[in-house]
Amino acid sequence: MPHFLDLSDAGGNAIAAMLNDAQDRKAARATWPKGRIDADAPLAGHVLAMIFEKNSTRTRVSFDMAMRQLGGSALILDSGTSQLGRGESIADTARVLSRMVDAIMIRTDDHSKIEEMAHYASVPVINGLTDRSHPCQIVADLLTIIEQGKPLPGLELAWFGDGNNVLHSILEAAGLMKFNVRVATPAGFEPDQEFIEMARAGGAKVTLTQDASAAATGADIIVTDTWISMGQDNAQPKLEAMAPYQVNDALMGTAKADARFLHCLPAHVGDEVNETVFESPQSVVFDEAENRIHAQKSVLLWSLGKL
Ligand code: CP
Ligand code: NVA
Repeated sequence: MPHFLDLSDAGGNAIAAMLNDAQDRKAARATWPKGRIDADAPLAGHVLAMIFEKNSTRTRVSFDMAMRQLGGSALILDSGTSQLGRGESIADTARVLSRMVDAIMIRTDDHSKIEEMAHYASVPVINGLTDRSHPCQIVADLLTIIEQGKPLPGLELAWFGDGNNVLHSILEAAGLMKFNVRVATPAGFEPDQEFIEMARAGGAKVTLTQDASAAATGADIIVTDTWISMGQDNAQPKLEAMAPYQVNDALMGTAKADARFLHCLPAHVGDEVNETVFESPQSVVFDEAENRIHAQKSVLLWSLGKL
């Protein structure tokens, strides 16, 4: 069963195929209304169930629109109104949904929950974000980087702030797609060692530093994310530790002149990024958000054996 819990479930070749397919489909419908179905309607008759145990705007809308554009449809279960929220087990939910829908996307906290869902489901399970990783976001990020005319092999990507779920998936992608990652975080907020080792094992160069300026120097891509992820305490000491890692004009100024700024959104402008950078021509955050639709379409097609 081709579950998509992390990028390694697909591997580098499949991700490259997803990126090609996403570019082709995006180009083919560039002037169309957003709800029109792709000419080949590859997921006609297919239904995706989406489970949200955390808030979402982009993941929710982009998966729904992705299914519509592929000729299928999607439905949402949120933990507040489904039996999952009253204690029905993940194992039973997985087995019931597998009888009713063709694929399941879940956003949750503990990664073990999505692993349990995948274990019991007989349809593909897709990770819509856990505390550990956010693989769908990174397929969209890679698409955005390629669209900017920057080939992935050898690319220098620099990350600033918290060593979180989004960074974990970037590191996983680095090993699979052969780009390098400079990670600038305060002490104690580094990404999990497992992801650093995964990237290095794949041939990516990973540098860890507490010096934001050193990480940005000569970088092709500058990335950050919220300092406080969903489910984390809004702790003052953490915010203070993060302050030197804000992406601002001075930091962007040390990157390559044609460097681009990425942020998965939602952004906290004034914290992890200043307004000038966020609104600058170097910022491609809204292309990145749109690309969630195009990326998710290829993740869905891969998961359902159509790619
Ligand atoms: N980037 C992202 O996953 O956004 P949402 O939380 O709005 O889904
Ligand atoms: N790191 C953030 C990403 C949100 C899309 C979080 O987990 O809240």
